[in-house]
Amino acid sequence: MSNTPLLDVKALNVVFRTKSSGKLLATNRNHAVKNVSFSVHAGEVLSLVGESGCGKTTIGRILTGLESAESGTANFQGDNILGLSNAGFRPLRKHIQMIFQDPYASLNPRLTIEKILSEPLFIHKLVRNRVEARTRMAAMLKQVGLDPDALKRYPHEFSGGQRQRIGIARVMLVSPRIIIADEAVSALDVSIQAQVLNLLKKLQRSSGVAMLFISHDLAVVRHISDRIAVMYQGEIVELNDKQQIFENPQHEYTRLLLSSIPQVKARSTP
Ligand SMILES: Nc1ncnc2c1ncn2[C@@H]1O[C@H](COP(=O)(O)OP(=O)(O)O)[C@@H](O)[C@H]1O
Ligand SMILES: [Mg+2]
Repeated sequence: MSNTPLLDVKALNVVFRTKSSGKLLATNRNHAVKNVSFSVHAGEVLSLVGESGCGKTTIGRILTGLESAESGTANFQGDNILGLSNAGFRPLRKHIQMIFQDPYASLNPRLTIEKILSEPLFIHKLVRNRVEARTRMAAMLKQVGLDPDALKRYPHEFSGGQRQRIGIARVMLVSPRIIIADEAVSALDVSIQAQVLNLLKKLQRSSGVAMLFISHDLAVVRHISDRIAVMYQGEIVELNDKQQIFENPQHEYTRLLLSSIPQVKARSTP
């Protein structure tokens, strides 16, 4: 049983149809995700990497019920979650959590951090009362490197890096089985990126949560990943252990991505 993946995506196809401007009956067809298959095991970090527009976000949205697929399956803990209704998805929300690129957009500016963090705790019935919620939130804030004082404050009072720490705290508080992190550090300064990535990796390891880590930047996924899937124009062109991807890339496009990382280029230059 332990060999059964937590998440198993098979032959996923996503097609967007948009109206052509000017022509009444014509539609544009964008085959955004083409026959994509991958699995994520419990406790594992799989990264999806590839240039902008290659279909990464679409895959994340499919897995959180925000978009519908043309065909394929996505088994989560053995059940296909593609095509579930909103109501069908509801019980999965605790188990499949998202971290987004822009923590400011995902943290309601009108709410205190206490409200923002406690809402999911109450929605998922993980605490019985406010006192219990506060204890859990204060402990989690410490784990993400923030003072429990933060509870009384509002999102705008924090830096971008701190806001992403709050976003991570919100997700970790509900103890999900898998986190889908879409460009989670892309909006942050490079120096802050490393700190937030280290934090995410540390919490992922200690909690054993699985993660689908999405980024356009191969350098960013390097430390956090166990395996890496390289995407190009809607397809996975290479999927392998991190070490293989970095040291023995098989696909031309993977090599191209590697050559755009400054240190790697420097090291391979004689
Ligand atoms: N809601 C949508 N309607 C139409 N086309 C979309 C929609 N979302 C994404 N796309 C298209 O699907 C392709 C993949 O987009 P996306 O998944 O956002 O890529 P990435 O996250 O890798 O940058 C792009 O061509 C994009 O324009
Ligand atoms: Mg994207």
